[in-house]
Amino acid sequence: MSPRPPAADVWTVDANEALRLSLVRAKDDKASLSTREAYEGFHPTFTYPMFGEDEKIYGYRDLSVDLKFASGSLATHLSLTSSAMVASTSARDNVLSTLTRFLPPPSDDASCATADDFSTRVEADALAFRPHGDCVFSYSRPVSALGKGKARDGADDGKAYRISPVLSPEDAETVEFEVYHSTWATPGFRAYHRRMQLFVLLYIEAGSYIKEDEEGWEFMVLYEKRTRRSDPSIATYHFVGYATLYPFYCFPERVRMRISQFLILPPYQQEGHGSALYTAIYQHVLARPEIAELTVEDPAEAFEDLRDRNDLKMLLGHPLFMSEAGRTNGVSGVGGEGSAVNGEGRVGGGRVGRPRRRARKGQMGPPANRAWVEKWRVELKLAARQFHRLVEMLMLRHLD
Ligand code: ACO
Repeated sequence: MSPRPPAADVWTVDANEALRLSLVRAKDDKASLSTREAYEGFHPTFTYPMFGEDEKIYGYRDLSVDLKFASGSLATHLSLTSSAMVASTSARDNVLSTLTRFLPPPSDDASCATADDFSTRVEADALAFRPHGDCVFSYSRPVSALGKGKARDGADDGKAYRISPVLSPEDAETVEFEVYHSTWATPGFRAYHRRMQLFVLLYIEAGSYIKEDEEGWEFMVLYEKRTRRSDPSIATYHFVGYATLYPFYCFPERVRMRISQFLILPPYQQEGHGSALYTAIYQHVLARPEIAELTVEDPAEAFEDLRDRNDLKMLLGHPLFMSEAGRTNGVSGVGGEGSAVNGEGRVGGGRVGRPRRRARKGQMGPPANRAWVEKWRVELKLAARQFHRLVEMLMLRHLD
C-alpha cells in the first residue's frame, strides 16, 4: 500500500462501517407479495480481503458504499456516496473497482449498472427466481415470531440496521423456510454460487473462495419462502444463508462429509436458522449410506456452540441412546420432569456447560464404556472428538 500523506486520518474511513449491505424485496404488489422493503444497511464483519489488514479506505469523507442484493436471485447494485473526496483519483482508493473484483464476472449478468436497472431487476426476479437443486428440509414459523432474534436491534454489534417486518394482508400467516441441496452439476447453481460467495469473505474469519474446478463440493442453501394468502401456489424465495460441504475419502469405501463454510446473514441470525440449517445437513448425512460421518473444518467459536447445542439436543431427544446411556454409563436426563430440552429446543436453559478442557481423542473425564461409545458414534455419524466431548458433557451434567 502507498504511504499516506500527513492528513490521512481526515480522509480515512473504517471499511466495515462504510460498506452497507441490503437485501431488497420487490415493492410492486403486482409482481410481488407485499410492499415490504429491505433488510437494509447491515454491515460486514470483515473487509480485510478487499481493503487490507487495517480494513481502512482512504480518500473520502462520510463514505457510504452501498451493495444491494435482490433478496432471492442475489443480483447486485453497487454505488458510492461521500461528502468529499481527495481530488486525485490515483491518490484515493478505488472502492468500486476493488469490490467489483470480488463480484461475479460480467458474463454472469448478476450486476445492475444503475439504481433503476436494479429496481426493475428486483421486480422481475421476485416471482421468476426459484432455488436451485432439491428441497431436502423445511420448517415453518408463524409470522408473529419473525424479527424477534437478539440481533434485530443491532445491539450485539452496536450497528443498527433497518428491517421492515411489516407484512401486507396478502402474506400468509405462516412463513416457510426451505433448504436446497445442490452440486456444481445443478443447472444454474455455479453462477448463483458466484453471487453468494462474497458473504464468506465478509462474515467468516479467514474465509476464502472455494475452487470451482474442485469436483465434489456440495451446497445447502436456506431460503425464506413467502406465499400468498389467497393463492399459496404463488411464492417468492429470499436468501437466508448457506453451507458448503466437501467429501473426503473414508476407509474403506465411504466418505467423511466436512462442513467447510457455514453462514447465516445478520438479519436472520439468532432466530434459530443456523440450528435449522445444521439439522438439515445432519439429517441429510444420516440419510446417505455412503457418508460415514459429519465433520467441521476449523469451526468458529459461535459455530462450535451451535453444533454442541444441536448435537446435545439430538442425543437428549434420542430415547434409545439415552436409555442405554443411563444403563451403560450412568447418563440420564431424557424427557419428562426436569428434561434438559425445553419446548424451544434449547438445552439446559439456553447454554450448555461445555467443559473448558477439550476432551482428547479417546479420553473422557468420568469413565465411559468405550465399545458402547464407539458403537453409537458410528451409528450417529458424528466425528470422534466431537462425540467424545458430547458424551463427556452428558456425563458431567449427570454428575452435577
Ligand atoms: N430468539 C432469540 N434467540 C434465539 C432464537 C430466537 N428465536 N433462536 C435461537 N436463538 C439463540 C440461540 O440460543 C443461540 O444463543 P447463544 O448464542 O446464546 O448460544 C443463538 O441464538 C444462535 O443460534 P442460532 O440462531 O441457531 O444460530 P444463528 O442463526 O445465529 O447462526 C452462526 C449462528 C452460523 C454462527 C451465525 O452467527 C453466522 O453465520 N455468523 C457469521 C459467520 C460464521 O461465523 N460462521 C461460522 C464459521 S465456522 C465454519 O464456517 C465451519
